[in-house]
Amino acid sequence: MEIQQNYDLTKLNTLGVSAHAKFFTELNNEQELKELFDLAEFKQEKKIFLGGGSNVLFTQDFDGLVILNKLKGIEILEENNQEVSIRSISGEIWHDLVSFSVDKELWGIENLSLIPGTVGGAPVQNIGAYGAELKNVLENVEAYNIVDGSKRIFAVEECALGYRDSVFKNKLKGQYFISAVTLKLSKIPRPNISYKLLADYLKENNIEVHNPRDISGAVIAIRSSKLPDPAVIGNAGSFFKNVFVNDEKLKDLQKSFPEIKYFKEQEQIKIPAGWLIEQCGWKGRRIGNVGVHEQHALVLVNYGGGSGKELENLAQKIIDSVYAKFGLKLVPEVNFI
Ligand code: EPU
Repeated sequence: MEIQQNYDLTKLNTLGVSAHAKFFTELNNEQELKELFDLAEFKQEKKIFLGGGSNVLFTQDFDGLVILNKLKGIEILEENNQEVSIRSISGEIWHDLVSFSVDKELWGIENLSLIPGTVGGAPVQNIGAYGAELKNVLENVEAYNIVDGSKRIFAVEECALGYRDSVFKNKLKGQYFISAVTLKLSKIPRPNISYKLLADYLKENNIEVHNPRDISGAVIAIRSSKLPDPAVIGNAGSFFKNVFVNDEKLKDLQKSFPEIKYFKEQEQIKIPAGWLIEQCGWKGRRIGNVGVHEQHALVLVNYGGGSGKELENLAQKIIDSVYAKFGLKLVPEVNFI
């Protein structure tokens, strides 16, 4: 496998931030994965694995080895009349896995259409959208310990999946390379139209849901209408997580902000971070080369030439102003490196 030095990462992160890696290599097949663990640079240097680069912010150059995961493959492991187990190698583009499942009329990940990034990133942050979460269909995760190269299979219960959260972001952060993911999808129709925006869209467009493609198409249309395409304008989807509060805190907030937006989700109260940021006057604002998207305040954008530091500064200003106004602390969803 080839190792390159001082490698430009601009095209490998969807925010389009310029940063260089001291060392860089690609994983194209199983053989290279085996070689990787014996590589001197791998043993000696700090290292990160990169998939689609859709959830990272490089705030500076990376003084170590960046490994780009291009390992591919999707297979059906087993099936019966009701369910199918699908195993996907981690370097697959997430939406390609969704398309594969939708084509086979399998239910379970159609609501997660068009989420940028690779399959390997999906369990790390338990991707979720339009009322669905990876958690509901994940069977297991295969991963390599990056210290001794041993392989481990994590059953879904061991992944500690929560809202945009997992064991891979906490206790085991930076310790494992996720190599494959197995999902259990349904042959029996299980349309999930619990998310209001999705239900409204289907109704307004007179779409009756007969197969997963009907939902996938609607999700693609909704996402495309308000979330910027990273190929056109640098972004990493939602930059911050939504905020969850208890009843007491909500009542408190309603005294000062009677119009506050909130949603009851699984016995929790979600306050959309996009609303909080918009209320602080950030929506559509630009500072230098970076800014807050005009259509969705939760999305920070790089208009071109913006640096990681500029985005980090903007994010901090937003966090400070939301805290000053609402007393709520926004937490970035994007991983700062
Ligand atoms: N809102 C505003 N102003 C804005 C944006 C949103 O007031 O500028 C309020 C609206 O009240 C809206 C509510 O926020 O009803 C929720 O907005 P939306 O449906 O767009 O969802 P979100 O909570 O902002 C989350 C995920 C998205 C996912 C959508 C749809 C997080 C951090 N983000 O966003 O995921 O696509 O729900 O399910 O949970 C991502 O993670 O990168 C991502 C795009």
